[in-house]
Amino acid sequence: MTEDVFAPPIGEWYHPSEELLKAAHVQDYDEVYRRSMEDVEAFWAERAESLLEWYEKWDQVLDASQAPFYKWFVGGKINIVHNALDRHTKTWRRNKLAIIWEGEDGDKRTMSYWRLWQEVNKFANVLKSMGVRRGDRVTIYMGRIPEIIVAMLACAKIGAVHSVVYGGFSEQALATRIEDAQSRVLVTADGSWLRGKIVPLKDVVDEAIHRSPVVDTVIVVKRTGQNVNMVQGRDYWYHDLMALPIASRQCPTEVMDAEDPLFILYTSGTTGKPKGVLHTHGGYQVQVSATLQWCFDLKEEDRYWCAADPGWITGHSYIVYGPLILGATSILYEGAPNFPYPDRWWRIVEEYGVTILYTAPTAIRGLMRFGEAWPNRRDLSTLRLLGSVGEPINPEAWRWYYTAIGKERCPIIDTWWQTETGAFMIAPMPSVSLKPGSATRPFPGIKVDVVREDGTSCATGEDGDLVIQAPWPSMLRTVYGDPQRYVDQYWTKYAKFGWYLAGDTARKDEDGYIWVIGRNDDVIKVSGYRLGTAEVESGLVSHPSVAEAAVIGVPDEVRGNVIYAYCILRNGYAPSLALADQLKAHIRHEVGPIAVPEKIEFVDVLPKTRSGKIMRRVLKARAMGLPEGDTSTLEE
Ligand code: PRX
Repeated sequence: MTEDVFAPPIGEWYHPSEELLKAAHVQDYDEVYRRSMEDVEAFWAERAESLLEWYEKWDQVLDASQAPFYKWFVGGKINIVHNALDRHTKTWRRNKLAIIWEGEDGDKRTMSYWRLWQEVNKFANVLKSMGVRRGDRVTIYMGRIPEIIVAMLACAKIGAVHSVVYGGFSEQALATRIEDAQSRVLVTADGSWLRGKIVPLKDVVDEAIHRSPVVDTVIVVKRTGQNVNMVQGRDYWYHDLMALPIASRQCPTEVMDAEDPLFILYTSGTTGKPKGVLHTHGGYQVQVSATLQWCFDLKEEDRYWCAADPGWITGHSYIVYGPLILGATSILYEGAPNFPYPDRWWRIVEEYGVTILYTAPTAIRGLMRFGEAWPNRRDLSTLRLLGSVGEPINPEAWRWYYTAIGKERCPIIDTWWQTETGAFMIAPMPSVSLKPGSATRPFPGIKVDVVREDGTSCATGEDGDLVIQAPWPSMLRTVYGDPQRYVDQYWTKYAKFGWYLAGDTARKDEDGYIWVIGRNDDVIKVSGYRLGTAEVESGLVSHPSVAEAAVIGVPDEVRGNVIYAYCILRNGYAPSLALADQLKAHIRHEVGPIAVPEKIEFVDVLPKTRSGKIMRRVLKARAMGLPEGDTSTLEE
């Protein structure tokens, strides 16, 4: 099932300016790509060596002996925090701003590399004093405040594995993720500001721990200051702990194996249980820093702003780790793009002199609705490059981003990648000419294609499966606690060829540019957020009134897709608008606001195959008023 359908414009090219090209890290993409393909391992080894410091060099770049359980930089010793912080504190960069933070309520804070390093050391010591050891999982559930970055880095520093759960998820989603990771320690905040209201993070934590009682220690950052319930002997204030003598400013960085786990990040898949995508210390940082440097052409003097949330992979790789490894100054903003007015983002660009802005098409479409007057009131002349991620960017939004925001000066770097890939896979750099709506060509060292079911390469313009044809350094290593799921999900369909299945439908054009159309599995992208149909469906059936549920994604002008839900009620319940509202509130509470269906329809039957599988394709066709296609497998 294809989530998004749009017709690529033909013949619309955007070429980089001479000025940008002359100063770019890479002058000739084609040549660099060609050379990388001659010896992929040598290409990555060179990047690993020139971008990073290793405690000990690797013996082997790639070990494919247990494919698809690939290992990278085998025998290498490293810690991502050494490269993201420690090394900078020994140079002039100790004085450079690492983070510029703005709260939605107007609070402001900055942190130099020196200051951030000290905070991380202190918090790492706090975690140790709470019994956190190498390999232990720590769940982090916070808003966009600097402490989320401190907490992630503190875990990595001592070799613990962080599992960040996006602050927009609710009770059940958090409980499931705590349970799966078996985290004893959880770091959170009393709340976070969003659209002028407090997101009650701590209340959600209390309820989630009630459901998953594995957590015995909760550390709470005071952000909003409202009263929260603190459980004696379990809950501690962050600022109290950071003031204790145990919170020393000195903390040795654990020497990790390149393949040691760094974090787990849960993402939606085809079953109700989210997948714990596991990334490691070595290969991950190589590809994250290499892609950020080349594709966004990041320079020492940049002021870089990735407006995603640290709780998603975009934030992990391109707010936290990538920019810090490259010693960049980056912006973190807590709240909504249009609060209190639709120019909030543009005011931030103006105030801090942002040079690179990275966001999602849904945000652009949302801001586009308010018109050009808002950005026009602000000085956006510092911008030199714009990024996009999360879903295909429709040409209309692309052109608005390009003209209204970038003033036709800034290339739009459309980056295709996934939680699983860890870093950009298909994305241009300044020496690649652009076509609105295409992420263009693969990064050097990355081999991709669009193929038919039998593995043959699709012809120009023909839809097929997007596959990655060789392992890459920042690839996920497994699904946490479920290696079989890792194999089944990603490596089985094209096992004969050893290719990774991305789960996206794509097509190539006559110039070899890749156009990603959308997901072809049971994943729905709502406002760029990834949701599994099964996660929403199990949320619905957890309500006493619902016997069975099916959800689908339906195209939406701003959000990309919205969710339509179809529910069969249990005996004794009658369809009503009030019940539909109750169900929406239930989903908001159980899964999170992003999962709330746009529409709930009560039905007597659901279209199923004879083997009992729900035919979402048929539901979708009906919802969109399209032909139902082949229904020969439909149950009587
Ligand atoms: O469908 C693709 C879409 O987002 C999916 C990955 O979602 P997630 O793991 O949440 O990661 C999002 C941030 C990296 C992909 O399978 N996607 C992501 N970027 C693009 C995209 N679709 C088209 N163009 C993109 N640039």
